[in-house]
Amino acid sequence: MDRIIIEGGKRLSGRLPISGAKNAALTLLPCALLTEEPVTLRNLPRLADVDSFGHLLNQLGASTTIEGSRPEDFGRVMTLKAGRLTSTVAPYDIVRKMRASIVVLGPLLARGGEATVSLPGGCAIGNRPIDFHLKAFETLGATIEMANGYIRAIAPDGGLKGALITLPFPSVGATENSLMAAALATGETIIENAAREPEIVDLCGLLVEMGSEIEGIGSDRLVIHGKPRLYGATYKVMPDRIEAGSYACAAAITGGELELEGASAEDMHVIITALRDAGVLVEPTKTGIKVSSDGKLRPLTLSTAPHPAFPTDMQAQFMAMLTLADGASVLTETIFENRYMHVPELTRMGADIAVSGRTAIVRGVPKLSGAPVMATDLRASMSLILAGLAADGETQVNRVYHLDRGYERLEEKLGAVGAQIERVSDG
Ligand code: UD1
Repeated sequence: MDRIIIEGGKRLSGRLPISGAKNAALTLLPCALLTEEPVTLRNLPRLADVDSFGHLLNQLGASTTIEGSRPEDFGRVMTLKAGRLTSTVAPYDIVRKMRASIVVLGPLLARGGEATVSLPGGCAIGNRPIDFHLKAFETLGATIEMANGYIRAIAPDGGLKGALITLPFPSVGATENSLMAAALATGETIIENAAREPEIVDLCGLLVEMGSEIEGIGSDRLVIHGKPRLYGATYKVMPDRIEAGSYACAAAITGGELELEGASAEDMHVIITALRDAGVLVEPTKTGIKVSSDGKLRPLTLSTAPHPAFPTDMQAQFMAMLTLADGASVLTETIFENRYMHVPELTRMGADIAVSGRTAIVRGVPKLSGAPVMATDLRASMSLILAGLAADGETQVNRVYHLDRGYERLEEKLGAVGAQIERVSDG
């Protein structure tokens, strides 16, 4: 298993390219199931999760072709063509490893008339139910059966029928599944209390390119006029705001200066505001954003919540940064009940963090010290990388496969801007 070894204390400086967004890619890929024509996605990040999703789509009958990118380039272009669905089953082995695969439910149900998907179960960051997704399908007329750890959704004769879906909470996954199902339903579907994350806007962007008619894009009320068929399209995946935010924290925690090429300031409003509140300088540039810090960080009070509030996917990285702030920060995690798995590891590096329920008090310390650490999820792993970049001495981050799921060639990007970082394989 690979490890990442960091010799901390190096100031980062230079240009760092931002990849296509993982969370957008994983909802754009299943759109290919909605049409028999080819869908080409540009700027897809090279990530383990994208590969796994491609394999799942292959099993369902989509062909995938990767073209036009050299190994040294970031990102790639993939063309998917699901001329005919050969299966409507997403098996346990895949869903267990990649929770995001439940978003094939909506498109399979809409196009294939039925979908059988393994129940995803809990994960490291908490119990993650899918009741809102299933309720939405029922509202569109589907029947839901559960047996042997699988969910089977069956569309009525004549297909799904447009309806009013009111989500109890603006769930990202449930909004995505509802949107894709509604795209091929008969008549009009309204999604009330829809998630407004930029990745949902990106999904709507592709659906519109494929022939969908959607009103209210970017708002919490989406109106989808269902179409009998959708068409092929070529679409560029949006830049990864969470990757950009993570590297902004890297500039801040090392007192460095990074130009995040390709980052979209527009999608990062709340992250940029929080960085500025912490005393970090953030300026939009023609090609991205520039982030610089003199290393003096102010404490923050942050609470995660659905977009446009502070994203849960940035909580761990901000926590790492705030371990070195001048005072006490208060972080509250409202989305997931168990998303503080990085706290004991940061504490082993010298951080002073006390967790009570969903709130963490982070008292700034003058220094962190390197240590062997490991994390149980993607963003938690990134918080340990950030801590390692600032810590005295050597930090070994284990279970690198988490990082490979969500950060394209992390050590290469950080190494190019001055980090002393390497990946070691234990063979
Ligand atoms: C969530 C995040 C998303 C992030 C992703 C990975 C939010 C709103 N969503 O998306 O930004 O990229 O994790 O870290 O921040 N829920 C139910 N029943 C459901 C669906 C959701 O009770 O059927 C609850 C969840 O337990 C959770 C909340 O709603 O507390 C948000 O869930 P949701 O947005 O669906 O999660 P993801 O789509 O995984």
